[in-house]
Amino acid sequence: MSPPVRDGFTSTFGVLLATLGSAVGLGNIWKFPSLTGMNGGAGFLLVYLLATLLVGLPVMIVETMLGRAARADAISTFEQVAPRGQGGWQVIGWMGALSALLIMAFYSEVAGWVYAYVVKAMTGEIATTDPKAAGAAFGALVSDPVASLLWQWVVLGVTGGIIMLGVSKGIEAVTRRLMPLLFVLLLVLCARSLTLPGAAGPGLAFLFSPDLAKITPAVVLTALGLAFFKLSIGMGTMLTYGSYFRADQNIPATATRVMFADLSVSLLAGIAIFPAVFAFGFEPAAGPSLVFMTIPAVFASMPGGTAFMTIFFLLTAIASVGAILSLLEVPVAILSERFGCGRKRASLYTILAIAFFGMPAALSQSLTAGINVFGMNAFDLYDFLSSDVMLPLGGILICLFVGWVYGLPRLQEQLGNHGSLQNDGLVRGVFFLVRYLTPLLIAVVLLHGLKVF
Ligand code: PHE
Repeated sequence: MSPPVRDGFTSTFGVLLATLGSAVGLGNIWKFPSLTGMNGGAGFLLVYLLATLLVGLPVMIVETMLGRAARADAISTFEQVAPRGQGGWQVIGWMGALSALLIMAFYSEVAGWVYAYVVKAMTGEIATTDPKAAGAAFGALVSDPVASLLWQWVVLGVTGGIIMLGVSKGIEAVTRRLMPLLFVLLLVLCARSLTLPGAAGPGLAFLFSPDLAKITPAVVLTALGLAFFKLSIGMGTMLTYGSYFRADQNIPATATRVMFADLSVSLLAGIAIFPAVFAFGFEPAAGPSLVFMTIPAVFASMPGGTAFMTIFFLLTAIASVGAILSLLEVPVAILSERFGCGRKRASLYTILAIAFFGMPAALSQSLTAGINVFGMNAFDLYDFLSSDVMLPLGGILICLFVGWVYGLPRLQEQLGNHGSLQNDGLVRGVFFLVRYLTPLLIAVVLLHGLKVF
């Protein structure tokens, strides 16, 4: 009997777009601007760029490679590729599944705010350039426990429904259509923001002229965490997506394209937001609320703003879907393939687990506001534990596995697309990075950032 045909991405372009769909999301439009604002601007951006190139790209390449080599879920991957008796590497998959749940628990809440803002944009209720009014509108939403929970559940319902449909019909079909539109709208926003009176100078200086004194070990760790979060690496998403890659897909080229496209979306979001922040007198370090206040202000100051604002939040909601699907796919693949649960039931269990863990995050500015662990509410704690601790740790382990256990010959075979090795120098370069430099860099940043030394 031949084994059942495994679902997977159906075209090379589809792979690229689904991977891009995983990378591009609230990370670009919400997290990147708020972290950049809170961590001093250009210096943070500089460290983030370095982290993406020296850590993000090599980890993304080898993680995807392992997934395709094993063609299995994030835990079973290590059964396929680790030598007998070295089952311990499966911890990468377990930790990945846990990170996926933690990320989803707060990410689905932010997506819920975006959904809510689609409606609010339509009614014109958030169309204001006044920082006080904008802050009040956002505050009213996040401190309302019922609205917060309901919007989170709407997000979980929508994405849970799509994930049940499977890889080619669900993920690929949705993500390939809408990304280009978001890009165009961001360009429009940038143009408006840059032409606001008195905006371009201070906004661009904040974003592009670094003040090195502001780069502390904690800032470096945050930038590294963002690099992992942005490229969806260190937690099994790229292992799982890699397992659906076509055999002839050029992994280094795909990863590099996704990285650059992802960076450009973040930069566009930054250029759309920071000039407006200075023009209207918003606070760059406002944190998670920054985008929800600034973007409406930019739209409110242009003709046809209401319509554009609605479309913008709608596209952002759609962008978040691609990212959420890729997060869900990690536990769903594990439950359905490793534990034989059936895709529908696997999806349902995953959604229920997230709804449960997500509750304290959704309520962290209302009912559970007083409950803090390490001085953080549930929302911030989930974010910190996943992005700044677990993803970098997962990244170290993946690098060490490939560099010291998996080995160069197999890496050459996989990345050279089974023998047709045209870029051996590049493969050796990646191997050198993941064997020595990248894990060392992550370890130093992690330990230093957490004040271990
Ligand atoms: N990369 C996504 C974003 O920036 C978030 C994400 C993280 C998705 C980890 C999958 C895995 O929005």
